[in-house]
Amino acid sequence: MGGQVAIITGGGTGLGKAMALEFSRLGARVVLASRKLENLEPTAREIRDRGGEALAVPTDVRDPAQVDNLVARTAAEFGPVDILVNNAAGNFICPAENLSVNGWNAVLGIVLHGTFYCCRAVGRQMIERGQGGKILNVIATYAWNGNPGTIHSAAAKAGVLSLTRTLAVEWAPYGIRTNAVAPGPVDTEGAASQLWASPEASRVVRSQVPLNRFGRPEEIAWAAAYLVSDYAAYVNGEVLTVDGGAWLNKGMFVYRQALEQVRPG
Ligand code: HXC
Ligand code: NAP
Repeated sequence: MGGQVAIITGGGTGLGKAMALEFSRLGARVVLASRKLENLEPTAREIRDRGGEALAVPTDVRDPAQVDNLVARTAAEFGPVDILVNNAAGNFICPAENLSVNGWNAVLGIVLHGTFYCCRAVGRQMIERGQGGKILNVIATYAWNGNPGTIHSAAAKAGVLSLTRTLAVEWAPYGIRTNAVAPGPVDTEGAASQLWASPEASRVVRSQVPLNRFGRPEEIAWAAAYLVSDYAAYVNGEVLTVDGGAWLNKGMFVYRQALEQVRPG
């Protein structure tokens, strides 16, 4: 990734921060973009302290003008964008029948619309420059699974999956590869506070993962690094699921019990 310029939305916290640290370790110049400078600056400082190059640009991805400004500032300070990671998100648990219009719009706005605005702004620049590029969208396995309580996020992630596949085809002639990573549960502060706030909820989530543990942020960052690297030069329009086997874990409980009974010892 030496010398490449990477924008990571939501790059100050959680998985975005892990990606920023890893991309920087691999030589990228990283631009961190989210609403709050207090989330961005400490991560940018950490990267600089490690000898890397990082820029913090406060951006609400729901606002296309702010997204255009992000791309313009990146170009002015670091040069044209080689890598875009759409990682920013918002989420909370709410029964579908109780979800307000504002709640729906908040999550769709960040996840689906924000991803489109970022792809559009960066894609225009990549197409004009004529040297290709890499786009990576962060989704979740409930883009294709049922997940009660997060209808806004699930619908938005499904939209981003569709957008990923469409751009993979539409922009491939420009040398732009578009892929997605679908993390399983990773105990970041953002996800934990919104989705498994109690010890009991956390235990239940973990117990559904065949590997019987949460993922680590760097395990998602490694997958992201692969997808934007030349090791994945022929990978386009794909989803890499990194979830310890969680979404496949649909076996009926009764069979699991039966398996335990016939297992030797
Ligand atoms: C019901 C809620 C709510 C909740 C907010 N709302 N939280 N409704 N239950 N817990 C409603 C509000 O009442 C309001 O509607 C509307 O949503 C907008 O709320 P605001 O606070 O004004 O929005 P905003 O400041 O834009 O904040 C966006 C946010 C917030 C999404 C609501 O949670 C946020 O900023 N989150 C960022 C961090 C985050 O969520 N990270 C988790 C990512 S983890 P009304 O009608 O009252 O005006 C993840 C994991 C996926 O995505 C997969 C795991 C396996
Ligand atoms: P997180 O730390 O809460 O990350 C969300 C990030 O989005 C924050 O940095 C936040 O920063 C930013 N953000 C929120 N609203 C924004 C807006 N309007 N404009 C710009 N940035 C905004 O949670 P995380 O766990 O690392 O999640 C990262 C990604 O992984 C998300 O796409 C999430 O859906 C996905 N994911 C996570 C898990 C998991 O278990 N952790 C599982 C599957 C998928 P500001 O508050 O500063 O704006």
